[in-house]
Amino acid sequence: MYYKDKVVWITGASSGIGEHLTYALAEQGAKIAISSRNEKELQRVRQNCHGKTDILVAPLDVAEFDSVPGVVQQILDHFGRIDILINNAGVSQRAPIKDTALEVDRKIMDINYFGALAVTKAVLPFMWQQGAGHIVVMSSVMGKIGVPHRSAYAASKHALHGFFDTLRAEVAPDNIKVTIICPGYVRTNVTINALKGDGSANQVMAEATRKGLDPAVFAQKALDAIAGQKREVFIGGKEIFAPTLKRLFPGLFYSLIEKIKTT
Ligand SMILES: NC(=O)c1ccc[n+]([C@@H]2O[C@H](COP(=O)([O-])OP(=O)(O)OC[C@H]3O[C@@H](n4cnc5c(N)ncnc54)[C@H](OP(=O)(O)O)[C@@H]3O)[C@@H](O)[C@H]2O)c1
Repeated sequence: MYYKDKVVWITGASSGIGEHLTYALAEQGAKIAISSRNEKELQRVRQNCHGKTDILVAPLDVAEFDSVPGVVQQILDHFGRIDILINNAGVSQRAPIKDTALEVDRKIMDINYFGALAVTKAVLPFMWQQGAGHIVVMSSVMGKIGVPHRSAYAASKHALHGFFDTLRAEVAPDNIKVTIICPGYVRTNVTINALKGDGSANQVMAEATRKGLDPAVFAQKALDAIAGQKREVFIGGKEIFAPTLKRLFPGLFYSLIEKIKTT
């Protein structure tokens, strides 16, 4: 019953994790605003909820920072408040540093890092007015480690931890919670949509992702962590222990990472 009538805004809701968060929240009676660039896909997700709840389709490219305040206003006009913001929109990477154009590094930072900041900064004043709120951000195991062919992706996810750990401390007196979720492998289109060094889509489903956690199972675990007001949580298979291995056995960890065969 935690989510009943709560207003939740999910970015990156047209696919994968965001899509399944929407389905799980609709089952649990939340009122939901869903955003991403592809309005047609957002409408498909809305229709799949079969009118179980009020779902507002609010298209947004999170890297178009100037359009964020207008979308926040659209959601407030419709629902009157935003109780939970889930910064989930993101894009991965499949290219070595030597082949990655600087504008691709920047695009990944704009979507994964600055996009989450732009959305969060636009929502915070209303959470302060409400006297409560919960901000969630979808990081990754790559927010704690770096592996070949994910340089900008890992950098963008690491950066989220610096920002959102700071935010959590700053807004604690204001009754605003911050949860950082670090997924391991989840079966979505993330590796298909990942950017190659020239900025084009990878168009390959990685084997580890294909064998990853069911996105519906992931979504419920993520919602349990948010309801439990966890500060940071790792959800996935055995890969989520990589940051612990790095901390406890750094020599072993770094030599294993050097041997990784990336796809
Ligand atoms: N799946 C995994 O194994 C895994 C592991 C670790 C972390 N994650 C993180 O989980 C989050 C969700 O990824 P996913 O696995 O569900 O991948 P996905 O299926 O590729 O979904 C990514 C979502 O982000 C949206 N998006 C991308 N660029 C955007 C932009 N500029 N503005 C607004 N929305 C944008 C996409 O929608 P549009 O194309 O319609 O804009 C889509 O809805 C990401 O932050 C990802 O880094 C996933």
